[in-house]
Amino acid sequence: MGKTISCSVVLSLIPCFYLLFATALDTITPSKSIKDPEFIISQNGTFRLGFFSLANSNNRYVGILYHQIPVQTVVWVANRNRPLKDSSGILNISDDGNLVVLNGKTEILWSSNVTNTAPNVTTAHLSDLGNLVLSNGDDAGSSLWESFQHPSNAFIESMEISTDVKKGRKVEIKSWKSHDDPSDGNFSFGIEPFNVPEFVIWNNNQLYFRSGPWNGNMFIGLILPTVAFSWFSVVADNRQQTFFIGYEDSNHSMLTYCELDSQGKFSERRWDAEKGNWIKSYSIYHTDCDVYGKCGEFGMCNSKKRPICSCLKGFKPRNAEEWSRGNWSSGCFRTTPLQCQRDNNNGSGAGQGDDGFLEMKMMNVPAFPDRSSIVNGECKDQCLKNCSCVAYAYDAGIGCMMWSGDLIDVKESSRGVDLYIRLPASELDKGKSSKVIVITTVIAGIGVITISALFLRCRMLKHKRRNKKRKHIKFCSENIRENSIGVKLQQLPLFNFEELATATNNFNHAKMLGKGGFGPVYRGTLDDGKEIAVKRLLKASGQGLEEFMNEVVVISKLQHRNLVRLLGCCVEGEEKMLAYEYMPNKSLDALLFDPAKQDVLDWRKRFNIIEGISRGLLYLHRDSRLKIIHRDLKASNILLDEELNPKISDFGMARIFGGNQNQANTKRVVGTYGYMSPEYVMRGQFSEKSDVFSFGVLLLEVVSGRRNTSFCNDQYALSLLGYAWKLWREGDICGIVDKVILESETYSKNGNEKEIWRCIHVGLLCVQEFAKDRPTMPTVVSMLNSEISDLSTPKQPAFIEAPLMSHDVEDRVSLNDVTLTNLDGR
Ligand SMILES: *[C@@H]1O[C@H](CO)[C@@H](O)[C@H](O)[C@H]1NC(C)=O
Ligand SMILES: *[C@@H]1O[C@H](CO)[C@@H](O)[C@H](O)[C@H]1NC(C)=O
Ligand SMILES: *[C@@H]1O[C@H](CO)[C@@H](O)[C@H](O)[C@H]1NC(C)=O
Ligand SMILES: *[C@@H]1O[C@H](CO)[C@@H](O)[C@H](O)[C@H]1NC(C)=O
Ligand SMILES: *[C@@H]1O[C@H](CO)[C@@H](O)[C@H](O)[C@H]1NC(C)=O
Ligand SMILES: *[C@@H]1O[C@H](CO)[C@@H](O)[C@H](O)[C@H]1NC(C)=O
Ligand SMILES: *[C@@H]1O[C@H](CO)[C@@H](O)[C@H](O)[C@H]1NC(C)=O
Ligand SMILES: *[C@@H]1O[C@H](CO)[C@@H](O)[C@H](O)[C@H]1NC(C)=O
Ligand SMILES: *[C@@H]1O[C@H](CO)[C@@H](O)[C@H](O)[C@H]1NC(C)=O
Repeated sequence: MGKTISCSVVLSLIPCFYLLFATALDTITPSKSIKDPEFIISQNGTFRLGFFSLANSNNRYVGILYHQIPVQTVVWVANRNRPLKDSSGILNISDDGNLVVLNGKTEILWSSNVTNTAPNVTTAHLSDLGNLVLSNGDDAGSSLWESFQHPSNAFIESMEISTDVKKGRKVEIKSWKSHDDPSDGNFSFGIEPFNVPEFVIWNNNQLYFRSGPWNGNMFIGLILPTVAFSWFSVVADNRQQTFFIGYEDSNHSMLTYCELDSQGKFSERRWDAEKGNWIKSYSIYHTDCDVYGKCGEFGMCNSKKRPICSCLKGFKPRNAEEWSRGNWSSGCFRTTPLQCQRDNNNGSGAGQGDDGFLEMKMMNVPAFPDRSSIVNGECKDQCLKNCSCVAYAYDAGIGCMMWSGDLIDVKESSRGVDLYIRLPASELDKGKSSKVIVITTVIAGIGVITISALFLRCRMLKHKRRNKKRKHIKFCSENIRENSIGVKLQQLPLFNFEELATATNNFNHAKMLGKGGFGPVYRGTLDDGKEIAVKRLLKASGQGLEEFMNEVVVISKLQHRNLVRLLGCCVEGEEKMLAYEYMPNKSLDALLFDPAKQDVLDWRKRFNIIEGISRGLLYLHRDSRLKIIHRDLKASNILLDEELNPKISDFGMARIFGGNQNQANTKRVVGTYGYMSPEYVMRGQFSEKSDVFSFGVLLLEVVSGRRNTSFCNDQYALSLLGYAWKLWREGDICGIVDKVILESETYSKNGNEKEIWRCIHVGLLCVQEFAKDRPTMPTVVSMLNSEISDLSTPKQPAFIEAPLMSHDVEDRVSLNDVTLTNLDGR
């Protein structure tokens, strides 16, 4: 088992390796299943199918992701409603020929659930379009099941959303419950044929948004930005039984897909390689008017007006009190009956001369039209003939649309058509007289506006001069957010200086929590009572500035429960600050190495801390899809929350690796003595494996309760690593383990020895001299969880002798000017 895992690790490490075997690795067969964390990649590398986790959770899912971009982007999830609780998952073709997700106990969490008569030749193939196809043999027509037919929350090109009217079968996009929970959410996106097809978004089966009718070219009323490169199109099969909506992008220079988010917003996302992030090119559903039936029956919505709802002409609010409070849902009623209604409509022609139509320009038409293929001029006559017809509209692609009953979801739209509302002649006449009033009002209004505009302008000029300085500062901060970092940081809230100054009692000394790498850290309380930690960059610290920016860039992209959360930043003039969630238990070193406090940490808590750190580090290295090397992992950079859960902090020196980069060199070796791996100290090489080394040191510190550096001037001239190594070989577990653990009551009762022994073993594997011998974080996590039972025998660790330096070794150092011979040991 150990072998397969490290094999897959090698695969993901060395891109050329999988390119060689690319053709074989896009398919799952009955004999070739994949296990967490393995994956398969589509032939040209665009998509991969495999296991992943989402932020803030250890749940594992099987899904399809974009493979070549550094931000984890999931476009399909198999077991969305039944996550794997650990990393023992398998994706397999079962005996009955279904694709299944199994957990460690071989329970089926998800199945393609089809009837398959030839299970021994079944394959699941991941295509370059991102479609996972289950079929028997190569026969293209023989697909038994496709992921495109069972979408998640993403609409990717060449996928088709459809509705089969007769069979009632629908292929719909379904939103996630939340950003980090892919289980079924409230919203779905599909196509409704009605009388003229439209696409719609449902909220718990209630109509929530409608695009307006498809006219063969576009959806009437649906506003897409003028520079959209992509469009939707609707087709029906020959018998007009199944309707499909597809999505196409005319500009293939960027990756593009659409997503229905957990709030029901449908957006197009484009990959911006320069910014290294997805950008939203547009969202459908962005104003309140887009919510279906916002203004009720016979109400009309205009998002530019206040209030947004008004009754159609000739109609009044059904409930004036509710209406004035902004609850428009009960809509409007007709004040004067139609002439044809008054005539009681005996004989179809009666009274037709007395009703007329009010023209409303550029409207997204109401829901549920009737359709007739009459030519333009005759729509009006057709509508007048039938007293239940209350409105009509004409579109060359559709023909006449007519409405009977209530008009719902009428709204203005710059892409709409002209809508004609039936009104009795008396109401239409009112319109004419009121037109005159409108015109005079407008003329008078223009005069007033011009005068007040002139007046305002003078005042604003004055104001502007006064505020020039302030304005400059604001602009400056915008500048830093957008440009100098070169990364999109919109998600990161910007605090202003006053806010943080107030929160920390004006950076009161009594509120200081400690000193970080580049400045003091204060405890603070925001207005809403939320506790925060504020790190303030010392002014005029060049190196600090670089680290500050680096931290913002790195951590703003990350979210995991074992990483400290950045709440926002503040950049005003000279002031640069970061605000984090507050960790009441401070840092690990403050507990672990303090004889008065260390008995809080019994073995369970220590194991929990070790495990948490390993998860956080695994996320940094692998699961976030950005490969991040922390470079300064140490006890003082591990913060503890109220339940003593560990959170990795201080990303000032972290480095983001590109997709396939595994190692980098630096001339400026920075880090902390005792935690740095030999290849980093000596050659400036850092990689995942240098973090693994630091993790190993940290692990041994947690188990032993001793600082790596506490061994200076030790009688055996050994470092912590050398000491642990020596005792481990002698089988003397008690010698290594912290007395506090050995003396605690729970220790002897619970038989933790095996677990402790295993931890020390893993720690020693992590601190081996050569990077290639050290395990990667996925393997470390599996080893800690006993998923790998046969651990290899560790080779001699690096730095087994006591460190030479005896100055304050906890300081972060730069080794530019230290000669290598000094560090080479004796
Ligand atoms: C995958 O499925 C096949 C056929 O059902 C079975 O023989 C095999 O043991 C499964 N593989 C794993 C790893 O469970
Ligand atoms: C599998 O399909 C059958 C019928 O096609 C259905 O009754 C059953 O609920 C499905 N099971 C799952 C887990 O979807
Ligand atoms: C698949 O199974 C059937 C019977 O279950 C057998 O006749 C056939 O030869 C098998 N095919 C392969 C390729 O193993
Ligand atoms: C991969 O193949 C798909 C489908 O043929 C194509 O749209 C895409 O541009 C290809 N991507 C690369 C990187 O070649
Ligand atoms: C989904 O709908 C339910 C019931 O209306 C509601 O309680 C829940 O908050 C909604 N969830 C989201 C993510 O909007
Ligand atoms: C495609 O999109 C890119 C980025 O938006 C743009 O620079 C380019 O001009 C577009 N190409 C075409 C053919 O529209
Ligand atoms: C709005 O009015 C409707 C109908 O009278 C009522 O059912 C609903 O609860 C009201 N909504 C709000 C938010 O007051
Ligand atoms: C039809 O309308 C006329 C007046 O417009 C009325 O006298 C007559 O009774 C009506 N007929 C029916 C059947 O209602
Ligand atoms: C009038 O319109 C309604 C609704 O569209 C329809 O059911 C009815 O048959 C029409 N009546 C006539 C006489 O065309």
